[in-house]
Amino acid sequence: MDEFDELDSETNARIEGVIERTKDYINPGLSRLMQFGGFGDVESTAEGTVLTTVGGKKYLDFVGGFGVFTLGHRHPAVVAAAHAQLDLMPLSTRTFFGEPAALLAEKLAQITPGDLQYTFFSNSGTEAVEAALKFARIATGKTDFISTDGSYHGKTMGSLAVTGREKYRIPFHPMVPGTEFVPFNDLAAVEAAITLNTAGVIVEPIQGEGGIIPAEHGYLAGLRKLCTERGVLLIVDEVQTGLARTGRMFAVERDNVVPDILTLAKALGGGVVPIGATIGTPAVWDRVFGVNPLIHTSTFGGNGLACAASLAALKAIEEENLCQRALDRGAQLIEGLERTRANHPSALKAVRGLGLMIGVEFNVKDVAELTINLMAQRGIIAAYTLNNPKVIRFEPPLVVTPEQVDQAVSAFDASVTDAVAMLEGLEA
Ligand SMILES: Cc1ncc(COP(=O)(O)O)c(C=O)c1O
Repeated sequence: MDEFDELDSETNARIEGVIERTKDYINPGLSRLMQFGGFGDVESTAEGTVLTTVGGKKYLDFVGGFGVFTLGHRHPAVVAAAHAQLDLMPLSTRTFFGEPAALLAEKLAQITPGDLQYTFFSNSGTEAVEAALKFARIATGKTDFISTDGSYHGKTMGSLAVTGREKYRIPFHPMVPGTEFVPFNDLAAVEAAITLNTAGVIVEPIQGEGGIIPAEHGYLAGLRKLCTERGVLLIVDEVQTGLARTGRMFAVERDNVVPDILTLAKALGGGVVPIGATIGTPAVWDRVFGVNPLIHTSTFGGNGLACAASLAALKAIEEENLCQRALDRGAQLIEGLERTRANHPSALKAVRGLGLMIGVEFNVKDVAELTINLMAQRGIIAAYTLNNPKVIRFEPPLVVTPEQVDQAVSAFDASVTDAVAMLEGLEA
């Protein structure tokens, strides 16, 4: 705990107490990982892109809650909407109609592409995906799914069964049966995998946890065509890419694609509340809820607090022109990261992404890990992607300023330089 030597003993004890309790009562291994990664402090307050710890350090949040903090931390309009709804009625009786949910569902129908119209509300990304899978099964009367290697769709049983990383699936076997995995960006592989039992193809427009790998131009459009021809539903998981992150409100717009089912979560809560959404076409909804309107439900889904905050978030995303800002700051960030890559071609393999969903692929995992640690020491929060630890992701709030981007770029450059010098000789 050297770094806290300058703190008073009370603050030191508070930080150590939180870390010890986390170790003793939440997750010992994760606590060790966090300390090892350079995050042995306790978060205290946050505003915009800046996080302040109990230890009094300020960090620029370039992980952005893996897509949650599109509007930064505690956006005033979202906080105000949440406060107002708290004073009225935060949770629903589930007996009467709810105004915030109705207004939010209408807004989502207006901004999502094509004939996506109806929303099922839940509380997280994995719940949004669970609903999508169930809806695809009942809407088609078929059971199986096609998903992609390296994909990430969540860790509850259904979502996990379509998540493309064995490390997370194998310990929980047997999985929900019926998923075939194919390589990402390989249309012919999907075509070959479709059978008479295929209910849906599920895909991310950019594989987030897979290492920030964008769909190639034409891939999603090709999937759309294939799914329509073969009577299979196209489920696009925009839990991480959705709501301006990639420079478009929805990443599917890049390829002009309208999925049958689209999932959202993370940014939908405006960085203030948890919420998930599964959005579908009338054709899907008719088959899902036509016979039994209670076929899929959630106690907390569609609660007033989450929906009021979410409405305010969507308004702010539009009013503050965050799609354009994602493109502008994204271009600046990519340019800066590319400069470092040019200086360290043997350490850094690639810089890629869209808008402010950017990844840097390292050749050696340990260099990436050490770079994250050194960036934290320089006041920048970065993280690797869950299914590919060689990739450091940058997903800052879209309200990040040009100066903050420059700060992150400088910290990255200095940290890579140090990491390469410290770990010289390590092979991939
Ligand atoms: C594309 C995608 N789908 C689903 C999820 C699961 O979301 P949650 O962690 O809210 O359950 C994630 C989380 O990172 C994600 O990136």
